[in-house]
Amino acid sequence: MASVAVRPLRLGVMASGSGSNFENLVTACRRGELAAEVRQLVVNNPGCGAQQRAERLGVPVGVLDHRGFQSREALDAALVETFRSAAVELVVMAGWMRIVTQRLIDAFPDRLVNIHPSLLPSFRGARAVEQALQAGVRLSGCTAHLVRLEVDGGPILIQAAVPVLEGDDAASLAKRIHRQEHRILPAAVALAALRLGLLQNAQG
Ligand code: GRF
Repeated sequence: MASVAVRPLRLGVMASGSGSNFENLVTACRRGELAAEVRQLVVNNPGCGAQQRAERLGVPVGVLDHRGFQSREALDAALVETFRSAAVELVVMAGWMRIVTQRLIDAFPDRLVNIHPSLLPSFRGARAVEQALQAGVRLSGCTAHLVRLEVDGGPILIQAAVPVLEGDDAASLAKRIHRQEHRILPAAVALAALRLGLLQNAQG
């Protein structure tokens, strides 16, 4: 019987920090939990944890230090070029701490997914975990969503709620939220790709 080759969805990932969501995506792909392959990581902070993880995992990593670019558009143009060269179909912002421009969004229409550590639309922007603690909410969480120009403002794909416990500080709450991010981000990527017919198209 002839076997049918299934081509994995080609993912790009953008990260600025420790890269635990990046590694979790790579692991989900390698375990067969997500019919995808992380083809390219881009970091903007040379030597960051995400870059170190990529080197350990054998994932190609590009360093685009934002300090070397004249404008946000110029950085985003370089991101587009890097992902296009790797034939990336869908891009995940997994802790990318820069504001992105229409340049990147237009290059990957509905193919740009962000993970944010709050239940959006509450607590957009930086230090979302601290914002939630300061507001005294008893329930926080994380949101995977499509990226639009408005920061943390695009259509929501998946959310997970996380309780705020007595005595929580930013570190303990962030740790609990991270566990849920690792659970929902691969599922959100699959959902976005399915809606676009990208996972179906990968069969051939
Ligand atoms: C996550 O909390 C994510 O929601 C936010 O940045 C953090 C990245 O964590 N955007 P990591 O680098 O994946 O560990």
